[in-house]
Parts: sequence; structure tokens; C-alpha cells
Amino acid sequence: MLEKNVIAGFSKWPKSKKIEWLVETYASNSQEMTRDLKSFWHPGEELQRIIDGFSENTVSNYVLPYGIAPNFMIDGRNYAIPMVIEESSVVAAASSAAKFWADRGGFHTKVIDTRKVGQVHFFWKGDFNLLQTHQQELKNALTKQVASLTANMRKRGGGVLDLELLDLSLQEPNYYQLRVAFETCDSMGANFINSVLEAFAEGLQGFITQHPAFSGNTHEIDILMSILSNYTPECLVEAWVECPVEDLGVVCETMDGASFADRFAKAVRVAQIDPYRAVTHNKGIFNGIDAIVLATGNDFRAIEACGHAYAARDGQYRSLSKCEIVDGKFRFSLEIPLAVGTVGGLTVLHPLAKRTLEVLGNPSARELMSIIASVGLAQNFAAVRSLVTTGIQQGHMKLHLLNILNHLGANETETTAAQTFFEEKTVSHAAVTLFLEGWREAAQVSKGVVMAVKKE
Ligand code: MEV
Repeated sequence: MLEKNVIAGFSKWPKSKKIEWLVETYASNSQEMTRDLKSFWHPGEELQRIIDGFSENTVSNYVLPYGIAPNFMIDGRNYAIPMVIEESSVVAAASSAAKFWADRGGFHTKVIDTRKVGQVHFFWKGDFNLLQTHQQELKNALTKQVASLTANMRKRGGGVLDLELLDLSLQEPNYYQLRVAFETCDSMGANFINSVLEAFAEGLQGFITQHPAFSGNTHEIDILMSILSNYTPECLVEAWVECPVEDLGVVCETMDGASFADRFAKAVRVAQIDPYRAVTHNKGIFNGIDAIVLATGNDFRAIEACGHAYAARDGQYRSLSKCEIVDGKFRFSLEIPLAVGTVGGLTVLHPLAKRTLEVLGNPSARELMSIIASVGLAQNFAAVRSLVTTGIQQGHMKLHLLNILNHLGANETETTAAQTFFEEKTVSHAAVTLFLEGWREAAQVSKGVVMAVKKE
């Protein structure tokens, strides 16, 4: 029999009732679950109300660490990068790569373009050629239609850049599209774009019904949907680092600069060739990118979706980064579309997103693109550097040690002892468990000895 847990009116219930229901229905220990959910409520009621407003049916807050990676020299400016991430070693790796490159000229970037895209998908049985003939007239009518909507954005230097009519009826009968390019300046612009697109859809319908050239045309336009596209290959930035190959000699004790550069470049080429490797390689890039995107209150799902689509733009999923060694010079670069904003939305509402932007010097959207791409490149450099030298586990497990110790319930003394013990040893869950058991046994024995001495 199917279990029926359908409830009505959940969204209208107060938070306390939602928790009661949740706990009654799902908790193995109701007291503990209630305590845990409530323990993450923010003590400031007003702030909690704002946080609740970001989503729906909120019963608690989900906490992630907010860390800082200092020493990022980007286009000659020094940044400390706030990163929100739950994976050990990401912030440490970014910091270490940042410091390494700060001594070698830092990160260089170039914003290639900042165009965003929106689409009105429509179905029509009318004469598309006729519509195309009147394309310029249609554009003028639509531009007029959205004049008041776009006024503010135009004042800031943005607005609608271009408008195209696309015939896709060979792929799907009667399917056409209005593809629109936008400049949204410092805002991510999702609401602006979607509002303009909906107005365009209405304008398109009006144009066909009212224009005398279409009077004999009895077919109505069916607007399927109007929505921005998160694929923004023209909202693009490049970040790179470069140095003479011999300057890389310090990376690894067992390799000279040329051997390291060669192994590094090979690893990047492997990620160009093999999608299985490319996905992991790019995941490493997004370890950094997601962390700063999240810290700035931008939409990390959009950034991820777009980045992965861009990585597959020639039909095969490939590395987003590139490495060249030319005339003794090592150049490592990342080209990635990043549609982000630094005004509006969560960037002003989330108290820590606001602080992130402040720490970054309140950058423009273009500057933020440069910062984010540099963080992605730094993260990629750190991961591939470890992979082709010591292997990833050495550094990773050292930083994961604390998680293992927390999991095993280690106290402060035990944690310090374990950290000292594992300084020169390989960390694994089994090794840490063994160490802790031994430590606790020894502590018991010495406690027994002390008690016995005291009794005597
Ligand atoms: C782990 O989160 C990321 C890496 O796997 C990236 C890579 O393999 O390049 C280390």
C-alpha cells in the first residue's frame, strides 16, 4: 500500500507548527530534532525574518563555513576572497595558489563581453517570411513597447542590445523564437530580462493582430514561454597566470621547473581529451567558483549550468582551462562565461553577501567576473599541482583530519595530540581511529596510576 503523507496548507502554518509536524512525522528522537532545528535560528528576529523571506516553508537555517583566502593579486590589486564551502582543503588550496602567483605577477584577466540572452519561444502557423520582411518594423514596435521598462537600465548604460527572429520550424513544426541580447550592467538582471521578454511577447502578439500586412493572416501566435537563458557564452571572461618555466622549480622538491610544467600541461591536455577526467578537472575549478559565487549571493546553479554547457560547446565536454608552454614561458588560463551581479537581489539582502562585496571593495559586475575567474584558475592550479606531484590525498587528508576527529568525538587535547602525531604520517580514518583508541587507553591507564598514587 502507498504511504499517504499529503498535507494541506503547510505553507500557511507558523514555523512552530511546521516543526511539530516534521518532528512528529519523521524524527527518531523528537526532542533532539526540535532542539537541532531551533538551535540554528538566528537570535535577531528581524534578520531571521529576512532570511526566511529568501525561500519558503523555512524551519531552520543551514550553516556552511565562511572562509577567507588572502593574497589574491588580480590585475595588480590585492584581494582577500570570501569563500563559502563545506569541503576541506579548498580554501587552503586557493590561498596557497594565490600566494604562489602573487610572487609571480599575480592573475591577469580580460572581460571579453558581458552580453546576456533571453528568449520568447512561440508557435505560429502564419507566414514567417512575411514576419521577417517586417522585422525592422517589429523591432521598432517592440522597443517602443518596453521603453518605460528599460528607461532606468538605459540610463545606467544597459538595456536591449539586439533582437533576432529565428526559424526553428525544421526542428519542430511551427516553432519560432525571438532571441534578445541584453546588457544589464552591474545587476544579474534576471527580473529585468524576464519582464522585458514578457512585454515583447505581448508586443509580438499585438503586432501580428494589428499590422495591416497580416490582416489576411488568421493564425494566432501561441506564446509558449518567455524566459532568460542561463547559457551566456558572450558574458565571458579570461583569467591567466604566466611565468618562465624555471620559476616553477620551487613547486616540488623532486622535479625541476621544466618537468613540472610538462607534467602539468599534460594533465590539462588529458582533461581536454577525456570527458571522464574533464568533469573532475572542471569540478575542481567550480570548487573555487561556487564558493565565491555563493559568498556574493549570486546564483551558483546558473553559473554551473552555463559553465558546463560552455565546456561542451564543440560537442564534447572538455577542460575549461588551457595550458601552453611557449619559448620557455608557462601560461595557464581559464575562459569561462560568468553572468553575475553586484547590485540588487540577495547581494543586498543577505548580510554576509553584503560583507563579501565590501571585503572585495564593492566591485562592479565586470570586476567580479575577473575575481571569480581568478579564483577558479587558482583552485584548478592547486588541484593539478598536487595531482602531478605529491598526489591529492597527502594535503587533502591532512585537512580532513579535523573532520575525522570531530566525527570520532575527539576533545581538544586529543585533537592537538592527533594533529602533532599525523604531521609526518599518512592520515586515514582507520589510522586516526587506531591512534585515538591508543591515546584513550593510555589516558585511562595514566588516570588509574594517578588515582592509585593518590590512594596510597
Ligand atoms: C576535489 O574536490 C577536486 C579535485 O578532484 C579536482 C581535480 O581532480 O582536478 C581534486
